[in-house]
Amino acid sequence: MAEKLVISISGKGGTGKTTVTALLLKWLIQNTEKISLVVDADPATNLPDVLGVELQRTVGQSSKELKDKIEAGTLSPTLSKKEVLEANVFQTLVEEDRFDLLAMGRSEGEGCYCFVNNVLTRILDTLTRNYEVAFLDMEAGLEHLSRRTDRDVDSMIIVTDPSRMGFETARRIKELVDEVHIDVKHIYLVGNRFTPEMEELLQKSADDIGLEYGGIIPLDENVMTFNLVGKPLLEIPDDSPAYEAIGKLAKKLGLTG
Ligand SMILES: Nc1ncnc2c1ncn2[C@@H]1O[C@H](COP(=O)(O)OP(=O)(O)O)[C@@H](O)[C@H]1O
Ligand SMILES: [Mg+2]
Repeated sequence: MAEKLVISISGKGGTGKTTVTALLLKWLIQNTEKISLVVDADPATNLPDVLGVELQRTVGQSSKELKDKIEAGTLSPTLSKKEVLEANVFQTLVEEDRFDLLAMGRSEGEGCYCFVNNVLTRILDTLTRNYEVAFLDMEAGLEHLSRRTDRDVDSMIIVTDPSRMGFETARRIKELVDEVHIDVKHIYLVGNRFTPEMEELLQKSADDIGLEYGGIIPLDENVMTFNLVGKPLLEIPDDSPAYEAIGKLAKKLGLTG
């Protein structure tokens, strides 16, 4: 059985988590035979758009429906809440050729937030077993760490932009990982929208925070244009600078072959 890899992508909002996730997926599709699970764990649910995937509904919406049914008393008494929920989660899964996409979505109504996150934590235990690679595009907030959603992650990527706040968030993530004893094999610091001149600073900061150096991704006009016109990043030209940079990261992560 091939080794399975679970990779999470976190960092401050707007640093490029979703972009890095999409580019890594493109790399995996073009350079390997692997089939992956892609989880959009950000309530903003940007990833389906960025990948050009049509989403019917999120786990959050589905859990709201379940909650309504329970309250209305219309849930079949022969099924447990857990069974219904798990069936619902599978129904929200979008199946593409080379990857499946699961979008957690927003918590709708009181009590749903915890619920969605409990589901997320549990599917990471079970669902990810069916795939060779799983990518988790995390929310910008750090709650997922204290909830230990990342507990089964092999490699964590922390994306930062060239800003003090980006680095501070990276430091805070590392501290939380240590505090809650998440046993991640590797944590990489990746600098997005970095120039080669800034690379040394990033390397030093990674060292200082206690993170492995993950490399830099340059500012890329194609990434901007594709976002602006709503074209899927999976179709970005192979000679786009950001995509060219992602290959190195993919190899560090062990995504080859
Ligand atoms: N390397 C890059 N070059 C140009 N634009 C980028 C780059 N990385 C991200 N962007 C743009 O920055 C914005 C935020 O990126 P995104 O990946 O959505 O961040 P996050 O998921 O961390 O919130 C998007 O409009 C995206 O297209
Ligand atoms: Mg995002």
